[in-house]
Amino acid sequence: MAAMKLVAVRPVIKTVSFHSGLQKSPFRRNYVRAFSAIMSPPSKAVVYDQLGAPDKLTRIVEIPPAEIKDNDVCVKMLAAPINPSDINRIEGVYPVRPVPPAIGGYEGVGEVYAVGSGVKGLSPGDWVIPSPPSFGTWQSYIVKEQSVWHKINKDTPMEYAATVTVNPLSAFRMLHDFVQLNSGDAIVQNGATSIVGQCIIQLARSQGVRSINIIRDRAGADEVKDKLKKLGADEVFTESQLEVKKVKDLLGTLPEPALGLNCVGGNSATLILKFLRNEGTMVTYGGMSKKPVTVSTSSFIFKDLSLRGFWLQKWMSMDKATECRTMIDRLLGLMRDGKIKYDMELVPFEDFHNALDKALGKQGSQPKQVLTF
Ligand SMILES: NC(=O)c1ccc[n+]([C@@H]2O[C@H](COP(=O)([O-])OP(=O)(O)OC[C@H]3O[C@@H](n4cnc5c(N)ncnc54)[C@H](OP(=O)(O)O)[C@@H]3O)[C@@H](O)[C@H]2O)c1
Repeated sequence: MAAMKLVAVRPVIKTVSFHSGLQKSPFRRNYVRAFSAIMSPPSKAVVYDQLGAPDKLTRIVEIPPAEIKDNDVCVKMLAAPINPSDINRIEGVYPVRPVPPAIGGYEGVGEVYAVGSGVKGLSPGDWVIPSPPSFGTWQSYIVKEQSVWHKINKDTPMEYAATVTVNPLSAFRMLHDFVQLNSGDAIVQNGATSIVGQCIIQLARSQGVRSINIIRDRAGADEVKDKLKKLGADEVFTESQLEVKKVKDLLGTLPEPALGLNCVGGNSATLILKFLRNEGTMVTYGGMSKKPVTVSTSSFIFKDLSLRGFWLQKWMSMDKATECRTMIDRLLGLMRDGKIKYDMELVPFEDFHNALDKALGKQGSQPKQVLTF
């Protein structure tokens, strides 16, 4: 849809009605409103009225036009991913989440559709991302204050712009914030097929850091290994391959890793600990297996391992807005240059529930689902 040019709107009495199927939701109403304001187009959104199973509780509804105030920007969303944390928010197990009724999604990219009269530096047609991310990206039009939006280079592939913050930025931070890594060092990670994992492989490689990668036992494991090696992985093992007495015998010429990155928990985290060198650090950032991390007494006593945690949302809330945007621009540059790549599947917004099923793992291992509007 073409970007809207703003013109003064004379006061009118306008009746906007939405189809009768929408009447039960707080997002659904017929209303009569007097306004002299500029309004967004009506939006379509994925909403949930209570916390619980996302596949049962989410539905697509129409939302009435919203007023675009002087400092607001109306953005037509182009793409937004379904991340594990989006699912956890709807389930009610994520520590920071909107109170229902709420719209799903947390990151994404859009095109400026209209701006309020006080907005500077953004014009219709610009591409923007919410930065830091903010709730409610699974909707076709979003009206938010201008400071929420970060203008980005439009040459970036849309799906990369939509997904740049939550996972690539986490990968970047975790490689810098815990252990001083030098060229020739090694790291070990599980969940290597995740977006975070794929970014870690490539970012590590770009600094000369070698990576040992653990994946689940799954159909097509050999193809997955080849794919990760093409991205720059030095070694890729399935969990069952590591059921040996001394995993370090598998290291070959690779040095013992000082840093381990745990996306999964359970046995997979134990395997990371086995690889780590004395005084190594394991950073837990995900819990995909939903199983706890168990550490042997001996690895504390004899190896003096450190266990840490990483949460991007906490990092971003520490007055890091400017730093965050600078790093995002840098990551977007790497994406434009083809130096960071990962698997994604683009799905029309109307097929949200099929994409959600895939993101929930109901159809086996799947690439990241990215909604397009
Ligand atoms: N702490 C933070 O700030 C932060 C930031 C970003 C992401 N994260 C977390 O990082 C993790 C990865 O996120 P993502 O968006 O990069 O993932 P993703 O691209 O959506 O991929 C999902 C990953 O989880 C694996 N997986 C799914 N179910 C699993 C299970 N039951 N047991 C073991 N592995 C399983 C998948 O393995 P297969 O390929 O074998 O299916 C795949 O590697 C999530 O837990 C997310 O919440 C945390």
